[in-house]
Amino acid sequence: MGALTGRDLLRLSDLSVGELQELLELAAALKSGSVTLQCQKTLGLLFYKASTRTRVSFSAAMFRLGGQVLDLNPSVTQVSRGEPIADTARVLDRYLDILAIRTFEQRDLETFAHYANIPIVNALSDLEHPCQVLADLQTIQESFGTLAGTTLAYLGDGNNVAHSLLLGCALAGVNVRVASPPDYQPVPEIVEQARAIAGDRTEVVVTTDPIAAAKGAQALYTDVWASMGQEDLAQSRVPIFQPYQVNEALLEYADSAAIVLHCLPAHRGEEITDAVMEGPHSRLWDQAENRMHAQQALLASLLGAA
Ligand code: CP
Ligand code: NVA
Repeated sequence: MGALTGRDLLRLSDLSVGELQELLELAAALKSGSVTLQCQKTLGLLFYKASTRTRVSFSAAMFRLGGQVLDLNPSVTQVSRGEPIADTARVLDRYLDILAIRTFEQRDLETFAHYANIPIVNALSDLEHPCQVLADLQTIQESFGTLAGTTLAYLGDGNNVAHSLLLGCALAGVNVRVASPPDYQPVPEIVEQARAIAGDRTEVVVTTDPIAAAKGAQALYTDVWASMGQEDLAQSRVPIFQPYQVNEALLEYADSAAIVLHCLPAHRGEEITDAVMEGPHSRLWDQAENRMHAQQALLASLLGAA
């Protein structure tokens, strides 16, 4: 894993096919206990949006490596008073070994990465959520014993999680179908990038038809209909997204052994029903657990400890 030492992870496509595969293998080995790693370094968390899973799973992963975590709450640091990213990045670079950032603009992550020498990790932006998809792929792999040739159908808003799924599935050899309402499709640049990565190995389908997407799929995946920062749009989106709800009727179209995934937090009764969340196809809690294992593999690799 030496090739990842010192690198940033701003987009999932920063990883090669081989690097993603090695990360997932390491994540599985860390989860099973067949590998233990030590890395007494310091991780900073700079989160401009709320988080439960990402904040805690990154912290737990770093503690498991024997490292330290500093939670750099923007509201009590000078970033909330307008200190430029260029200055903040160069200062944090002198104190920390690695920095995970959750923010709105992908551009801000790129500015941090430009000014800091330490690895910068995208802990969710409006464009991507790459760390989430490491755990998602780990969950599919452990459910089916393979990634290659499986099919994931994402139903809902074609934004950050959908974008990282498109890229991650293409890299991992998973067929990916994204079904979204017409005005909520993934950005063309990411779809084209996913198609270029997939080549003729796997299919990358973007559609408005939820049933076509779900047919025969091994994984159904959804996310909230209004993301963080879009709360005022939540009510107006309900009727637009209702046909994309992951419910028992949609599950009927999927493979009989299909698993259901959701990055969480979920809005029961909107993008997913309570019955499906709590039902036998749900792998939501394993998926959430895998955030910790996948990020432990990522941290160790970026810090040169893998
Ligand atoms: N899935 C996810 O990123 O959850 P949090 O917003 O709680 O970190
Ligand atoms: N799309 C969601 C993901 C939350 C983990 C959001 O950005 O709020």
